[in-house]
Amino acid sequence: MCGIVGYLGTKEAFPILIKGLHRLEYRGYDSAGVALVDKNGNLNVYKTKGKVANLEDYCRDKDISGTVGIAHTRWATHGEPSDKNAHPHFSQSKHIALIHNGIIENYLTIKSFLIEKGYKFQSETDTEVLVQLIEYVMQEHKLPLYEAVYQALTQVIGAYAIGVIEKDNPNILVTARTASPLIVGIGDGEFFLGSDASPIVEYTKNVIYPEDRQVIKIERGKEIEIRSLDKEELIKPEIKQIQLSLDDIEKGGFPHFMLKEIFEQPKSLSLCMNGRLQREQKEIILSGVRENIDKFAKAKRILITACGTSWHAGLIGKYLFETLCRIPVEVEVASEFRYRNPVVFKEDVLIAISQSGETADTLAAMELAKKQGAFIYGICNVVGSSVARLTDSGTYTHAGPEIGVASTKAFTTQVCVLAMTALAVAKELHTIKEEDYKRIVTELCNIEEKISTILKKTKEIEDISKIFTYARNFLYLGRGFNYPVAMEGALKLKEISYIHAEGYPAAEMKHGPIALIDEEMPIVVVAPHYDMYNKILSNVQEVKARKGRIIAIVTEGDVDIKKQADYTIEIPQTEECLSPLLTVIPLQLLSYYVAIAKGRNVDQPRNLAKSVTVE
Ligand code: G6P
Repeated sequence: MCGIVGYLGTKEAFPILIKGLHRLEYRGYDSAGVALVDKNGNLNVYKTKGKVANLEDYCRDKDISGTVGIAHTRWATHGEPSDKNAHPHFSQSKHIALIHNGIIENYLTIKSFLIEKGYKFQSETDTEVLVQLIEYVMQEHKLPLYEAVYQALTQVIGAYAIGVIEKDNPNILVTARTASPLIVGIGDGEFFLGSDASPIVEYTKNVIYPEDRQVIKIERGKEIEIRSLDKEELIKPEIKQIQLSLDDIEKGGFPHFMLKEIFEQPKSLSLCMNGRLQREQKEIILSGVRENIDKFAKAKRILITACGTSWHAGLIGKYLFETLCRIPVEVEVASEFRYRNPVVFKEDVLIAISQSGETADTLAAMELAKKQGAFIYGICNVVGSSVARLTDSGTYTHAGPEIGVASTKAFTTQVCVLAMTALAVAKELHTIKEEDYKRIVTELCNIEEKISTILKKTKEIEDISKIFTYARNFLYLGRGFNYPVAMEGALKLKEISYIHAEGYPAAEMKHGPIALIDEEMPIVVVAPHYDMYNKILSNVQEVKARKGRIIAIVTEGDVDIKKQADYTIEIPQTEECLSPLLTVIPLQLLSYYVAIAKGRNVDQPRNLAKSVTVE
């Protein structure tokens, strides 16, 4: 959460910083700010509550000149969203300005120390403590900015990606990271900072991904200097190429990123399977599985951990691994797993799933399992992210950047990777019959086309969604592989429309949620035609008997559920274990159009952030 941007070079910094903030706004949008050293040597800080557009308005009559600057878009942790809690924060003398993504855990101790030294604080944030500490170290030890940042960070516990500039030296920009994402872009005589590559890609493809505990000096006309807090000697920068294109991060004619990303799913799944699914031979080749098959072979169980939508993908992973590989699986939200003192065996395989690769709880869960000797397999979208770096092995989803806060294409590519992984493991361990393997792999080859067929029903789904904007509650029901899909559908709806929704295993409904059903209540039933069809038909009848309004997701040609449901949306037939890849699509569209009809900001729903880098 929170997005940071920085620039030092020959151009005017402000437009670059503002554009960068817009691209990072998915990370938080309760307040925003910018700091620049202007041509007269003033350090100007402008910040305001609200979105980046508010900041732009606020700055219209201000001096926004300067070729060095930092900017921030916030998702509040310490202190409510307000002008004073917005970043950048000034030091006491207003000679230094700092932006920060993360949490300084020992900020209260440092704050008390600084208060004793006479420092006064303007905000309720943990961040302000750091900028004051830097100034204190600078004055006390007569150090230049870079050295002072370095010394100050040796006293800090917590997570941070920071950018720091100073009034007296417009040629310097200092940055550092521990456990929060940071990329440094290197252009021709100019440098960029970003929480991800999106603010940088327009200007340069050459980047450095700083490691944890590295502090970096960016100086006009010089090579960058990197040192670790653990060792003082200089570290040689390793320059890498960003694999992102500008098209990836723009809306491409869609009104919202979420809709663009829903429609991108045939393409993102194709990219996800590219080089892994051998379409002619009907084979899956996953190097991460092949090279580590011994780990899967000796695993008595698989642990899956993740948060949010990625956790829902993990729940489908359980059905996949247990069905295809006959390995028991436990799935747990990372925030519970990490604090539960869980039992982890050395033979366990822990699969961590994360779109961003930066979710703090998922990272902590991985670290815990790693310490206890488990083999860590990562499924993650962002190349080079912290999750990717912490794993022993894994598979990227290659969904491309997902910017809409409500996750869509990340989910389907995660499920696809889980399906490919389970199939590859099952094949190696001989827990699947060859004919079953070939049949499922053949279906995987057709999945993008089947998703495209569902996307053609968008208008139909939009019309249904308009009928249900009155609802205050929704119930989503599913069974087996589609129980987690029901949960995911409910999550999508509540995230962006703010309608309360619950996802439930269909048969469990009679132990509670059935009490909520009346003629007002919409019930979305995920009911494709598989072995449990008659069971779910009974659940549908139970709903109907209580006058609930049923929207059913059914397989093409369905007869029985159609008779009971008020509205049905048909999806093509596929293998049951792959069906979540299809059933989730109408649910994504349904939530999108309900939210649109209610006038919600679907790409930036209130209180949420795309990447949750705090616990
Ligand atoms: C946030 C996002 C969700 C996401 C979850 C886990 O809550 O809004 O869309 O599913 O974090 O994020 P991750 O990046 O680890 O998949």
